[in-house]
Order: sequence, then structure tokens, then C-alpha cells
Amino acid sequence: MNAKATKFSVIFLVLCLLSAGPVLAQNARIKIDIDRSVGKVDELLYGNFVEHLGRCVYGGIYEPGSPLSDENGFRKDVLEAVKGLDVSIVRYPGGNFVSNYHWKDGVGPAAERPARMELAWNRLESNHFGTNEFMAYCKAIGTEPYFSVNMGTGTIEEAQQWVEYTNVKEGPYYAELRKKHGYPEPYNIKYWSLGNEMDGFWQMGHMNAEDYSKKAREAAKLMRLTDPSIKLVAAGSSNFRPNANPMEWNRVVLEELKDVVDYIALHMYVGNPDDNYYNFMSTPLVLEQRTHLVKGLIDEVMSRANRQGRDPIYIAWDEYNIWYRWRSSETMSGTRALEERYNLEDALVIAGFLNAFIRNADIVKMANMAQLANVIAPIFAEEKGMFRQTIYFPLQLFAQQVRGTSLDVFVDCDTYDTERFFLGLGESQAQLDKVPYLDVSATYQDNGDVYICVVNRHKDKAISTSLISQTGAFSGSFEVYEVNGPDVKAENDFGKEPVKTVKKDGLRADGKAEVTYSFPAHSFTMLKGKIKR
Ligand code: AHR
Repeated sequence: MNAKATKFSVIFLVLCLLSAGPVLAQNARIKIDIDRSVGKVDELLYGNFVEHLGRCVYGGIYEPGSPLSDENGFRKDVLEAVKGLDVSIVRYPGGNFVSNYHWKDGVGPAAERPARMELAWNRLESNHFGTNEFMAYCKAIGTEPYFSVNMGTGTIEEAQQWVEYTNVKEGPYYAELRKKHGYPEPYNIKYWSLGNEMDGFWQMGHMNAEDYSKKAREAAKLMRLTDPSIKLVAAGSSNFRPNANPMEWNRVVLEELKDVVDYIALHMYVGNPDDNYYNFMSTPLVLEQRTHLVKGLIDEVMSRANRQGRDPIYIAWDEYNIWYRWRSSETMSGTRALEERYNLEDALVIAGFLNAFIRNADIVKMANMAQLANVIAPIFAEEKGMFRQTIYFPLQLFAQQVRGTSLDVFVDCDTYDTERFFLGLGESQAQLDKVPYLDVSATYQDNGDVYICVVNRHKDKAISTSLISQTGAFSGSFEVYEVNGPDVKAENDFGKEPVKTVKKDGLRADGKAEVTYSFPAHSFTMLKGKIKR
């Protein structure tokens, strides 16, 4: 080869390498084995949350009089986007809101419902949207309702009467009241949480763990006497500020309610207040650490519990998301509260949370992204229209596809250490060593379908990875779905979707037990393939 040709070849090679993005030197490995299972993936992992807060209900999912709404007042564009998320369960009506909410204010003829001062988020609550409107919404989107009762300023009697109103067919006063309101059939609402974040000093009616457990146990007794088939969720820890003792709260609540409840609820919000990408990317691992700690507490009390044939207690991460921008007193108040706008790095953290739920599918049996519209939400609406935020896309991919059995995945890749950092505003600190650049979960279904979900946390480099099946070989091709964008700060907006899911060329795997794939920098990839034993 002459000098000119050699020069040309070198330039060509460099151009090829640049177009694929720099690749980490190490070849990473992901091994999956369909015989090594963690647990069944519960459909309720793909839940959401609607709270009377800011524009989540009014001006979000519900806007009577808008040309974009249907005859029920439901925003049709928002409803279509919600349907795209295949939401399995929706928690309602709060949140901090529920701790001073009296459900009877929100039933009966709308014109007769009292307007109330809403003290959690400083609004006027018209009560035009209540139990029956929410149930109509659940029907419209085809989801399971999950109600939260007021354990703050509410009474155990009021909680019982709500179950009677919604779940008893006929006879007693509140069942008949529902019929009088025009709803002859009971709703049979199965999931009920016993209050919200009662460990938080900000909660109206905040209590210590002993007092909460006592009230929750008595409420549970009355609610179950009314409908024995309901599933109950205890309020676990949400307060991780430096002076709090969240695991002690969880320990007491689990001890006191070990025979009674079906789930313990945990909440977590993270953020990137210091603008440190790599610290932020590691935050789902803190959620996973907390999951392991609570699982240990559950295992310990279950060994002494009298469950009368019921399943053990599971974890419901019934609020999780990224929330740190709209967190000042002004941005947490009034009709435009918590209107966080999301970027690509936020979407990758959400994919990390979902991977963590799947990896712990034996104990995490419910999860609810907070919230559905406008308020720290995957869907953002104004009077003129809506758009899907970046965090919509990983949630959609999981919710529409990832089912079956979670597998115990082996991952070998480069790692990084974080600094000591705040997880978000008002949160505790963390420091993590050896955070893998690849965050992985995998599931397997009886029909042979396998899903491998991978976040490449590396900001600049693609990671070339061997995917290895240890029992059986891959067959056919992998479908490849990728959530990515031009840079980690890219945001979606009205008419602009730089961050979204792109279906890429399939990855041929036929008959091989090992294939190689290069995960692009700052991406979430879902690979859907098949394994034949
Ligand atoms: O989702 C917003 C708020 O966050 C909820 O009302 C509360 O439960 C949590 O602190």
C-alpha cells in the first residue's frame, strides 16, 4: 500500500470510530440464566399516582369546559397519553393532601359540595372531583384503583364508612348513599393504604410510630370487618433527613402491624441539585439499599407473624420520582405547584429505578410513579395541548412489555465511585463505591421471551458488551428499543421530542449463546429476544 492509501485508510478508520462514539476499552459481560430466578414480576410495579395537588387533577387529567375534554370533563389528549403508559394501578387522592381530606366532601351533587382550604399545598379545593369521578377515570384508562385513607385528621370510623360507600352492595347507610348518588354497583376497591407519610413532621396529624400503628391497626380492623377481601398498605418511612430514624419507624410499624397489613409503603425522591451527573446516576442504588434493609426487617417479623394463610408483607414503593427543582415554598404552593420539567438524565434515573424494582421482584410488588399529570409527572399539559416528558419513555417500555420472572443477572463492567452527596433537597446523603456503568435487569417469560434492560450510565462512551445465555441459546433476532437524546440535559417540550424511544435495527442472535452489543453513551436500551432451552 502506498503512503497516500495508508493515510486514507487511517483517516477512514478514525472517522468510523468517531461515528460509533468512543468505546470503553473493557469488554463488559452480562450473563443471564433462565434457571436462576428472583421472583415473579408483579404487574402493579407499573402504577401511578393522582393527588389533589397543583394541576394534577384540575387542569391535568380533568378540565371540564375545555374543547379538549370529553363529556366527563376528562382531557382526551392526556387520557390517550395515560393509556400509552398501560398504568396498572393508580393511587388516590394523596399524598399529603389526604391527611386532611374528608371523602364525604367529594361525593353527591357537585353544586352542593363544600369548597375547602387545602392546607397541604395551599389551594382552594372545590371537591368537584371526588370518589366517583376518580372511579370513572380508572374505568376510562382501564386501571386498578388504590385508595388512601386519612390517618391524620380523619377518624377510623370515616375510613370504615368509605369502604362501606365503595364496596358494600346494598343495605347500610353509605352503600345506599352511593346508590342514591347514581352508582348502583359497588366498586370493590381492593387496595387501601392506611395514611400517607405519617413519619414526616410535615404531615398533618403526624404521629410517632407507636401511635400511628395503634390507629392504623384499629382502622384496619373496621375496614376489614366491612370488606374482608381488601388489601392494606402500612405507611412506611419517607423521612430520610439526617435527624430521622427511618428504619426504626419501619421496624416498629412492621412489628405492630405484622399480622394485619399486606404491604409496607416506602417513598423516595431524588435529584441533582449539585449538577453532578455521576452522583445522580447512582441514586437508584440507594433505593435498592433501602429495599434490602426493609426486606430484612420484613423477614425478621414474618418469622413471628400470624398471617392466617395470607402472603407475607411486600414492599410498595408507592411514591418515587425525581423532584428537586420545584421545591421552594413558592413552587410547592398553589395551582402551579411541583411542575418539574425533565431531561434525559432524569429518564435514565427512572430506568434505573425500574431496573431496581425488577431486580427485587421477590419483595417489591407495587410501585407508583408520582404523579400522573403536570405535578412531577410524565405528562405535561396546558390549555392548548400536552407533551410527553422524557421520563414517560422508559416507564412506557417497561409497562408495556416487561413481565414474567425476574432473573438473577451477572454483570461485569467498569465502575466508578461517587462523592458524598445529597440525594436531593432535604434528603439524606449517600456515597457509593463501585457503581457499575451498566445497570441491568432481565426477565424471562414462559413463551421464551427474554427482556434485557440496560442503562449505560457512561456520559461519553459506548460500552461493548457480551450478552451470554447460560441455559439455552438465543434464537432469532433481538428487537432493540433505545431511549436517548442529543445530550443528558435535553428536554422535551410542546411540539419537540428530542428524547424518546427509537426502535433500532434488530440484533441477529440465531442459535448463539453469546452475542455482542454496544450500548451507546447515556442511553437506556431494552433488548427483546428469545431463548430456547
Ligand atoms: O408527591 C408529592 C408529595 O410527596 C406527596 O404528597 C407526599 O406524600 C410526598 O411527600
